[in-house]
Amino acid sequence: MVRVGIVGVGTVGESVVKILKKNKDIIQARAGKEIVVVKGAVRDLEKTREVDIPLTTDPFEITQDPNIDIVVELMGGVELAYRVVKSALENKKAVVTANKALLAYHRYELQQLAQDIPFEFEASVAGGIPIIKALREGLSANHILAIRGIMNGTCNYILTKMERGEGDFNTILKEAQELGYAEADPAFDIDGYDAAHKLLILASIAYGIDAKPEDILVEGIKGIEALDFEFAKEFGYKIKLLSIAKKREDEVELRVHPTLIREKELIAKIEGVMNGISVIGDVVGETVYYGPGAGGDATASAVISNIIDIARGGNCSPMLGFKKPLEAGMKLSQEILSKYYLRMVVEDKPGILAKIATIFGENNISIESMLQKAAKEEKLAYLLLSTHCCKEEDIQKALSTLKSQQFLKQNPFMIRIEEYGNY
Ligand code: NAP
Ligand code: HSE
Repeated sequence: MVRVGIVGVGTVGESVVKILKKNKDIIQARAGKEIVVVKGAVRDLEKTREVDIPLTTDPFEITQDPNIDIVVELMGGVELAYRVVKSALENKKAVVTANKALLAYHRYELQQLAQDIPFEFEASVAGGIPIIKALREGLSANHILAIRGIMNGTCNYILTKMERGEGDFNTILKEAQELGYAEADPAFDIDGYDAAHKLLILASIAYGIDAKPEDILVEGIKGIEALDFEFAKEFGYKIKLLSIAKKREDEVELRVHPTLIREKELIAKIEGVMNGISVIGDVVGETVYYGPGAGGDATASAVISNIIDIARGGNCSPMLGFKKPLEAGMKLSQEILSKYYLRMVVEDKPGILAKIATIFGENNISIESMLQKAAKEEKLAYLLLSTHCCKEEDIQKALSTLKSQQFLKQNPFMIRIEEYGNY
């Protein structure tokens, strides 16, 4: 028998308990052992729950319990979760976590602490998609050239519904929260940090990169408007929050931001809470992974797969997939090359376009396409344009010059454009 303690019996924790019961036969057959949840930790003992297991409010009661073999951390947050997981490892208990924020900050220390104690985290990236296993085991013969993916279900749900005209940003976010997709603090979702946490986990497995969220370019989905979807449609794009890692020579570029991608790309077709990740290996070429990226049951599916692996006695070390460290540098975000889309509200009068073209020209930026749309206010117009490929540093300089122009009636809004097929 394998005895499990769950720290955090919320959306995911409850699903884990329910599915362990519902699929007990197949799980026991695959694990070769019975898996029993002996205790859970929560904040509020009075809250009504759909599962009935012994509860405590002290997570360390679980990590120190000699009757528990595997500690499953599903409480979220960083520092307390780190102390909980550390205590579990110190007590020689295997650990399973879905906590990407914890791993974004402490994955290397945890790997060091875990050594040969199983430490598994499949649910931390892309919910129910087994992307960690695919990257760490399935693709281990490859140099990873690129990872590009939709890794936040909440944002993809919001963008999909906004594109279809099915509500405004705040209403759709509330729906995503009610469906159990969003983080306890949804700012992590909509500001791009949850997707950045996941990208950093994958970048460790793919490249051995030890970076923190503050070290990479992260932008969220606030500020996107109906007009941006109109431009995207007109020019054959979709708007997605993408997490991007690319390796060129010895440098890795890591970034998360809303992105215009060609609608014919597989990843552009991913809608709602679904996630999709394209991984390009130098040997295998492109492989693509698709599935539900958030929600209690999808996430529990990944958590339980880790519990089964551990119960089987599978060798899960090294946690991040490298027995010897690998040296890869990180590209500075100013050096990134991209195409850009800009939305501007300008005075609708002669000479304005020429002024904008001059500012771009002075910053080595060339315009690829443009649309003008009437604004509600008289004598104002929307200018929607895309650029050819240029340097991030140059577009930032151009944006800063544009912001100080009197003919601009709002700060310009920018979305990066990703053209696939360069690999
Ligand atoms: P949740 O619904 O907010 O559940 C968190 C649970 O942890 C609750 O049971 C809460 O207790 C308990 N908890 C929080 N602080 C605690 C403390 N100090 N002491 C004891 N218990 C504490 O969160 P969730 O959506 O299940 O997410 C859990 C983890 O999975 C997070 O790391 C999240 O990022 C990750 N994850 C979530 C999803 C998803 O779709 N939801 C997907 C992938 C990964 P109470 O119930 O008493 O409040
Ligand atoms: N809040 C996260 C999301 C949960 O929406 O993708 C899954 O990690």
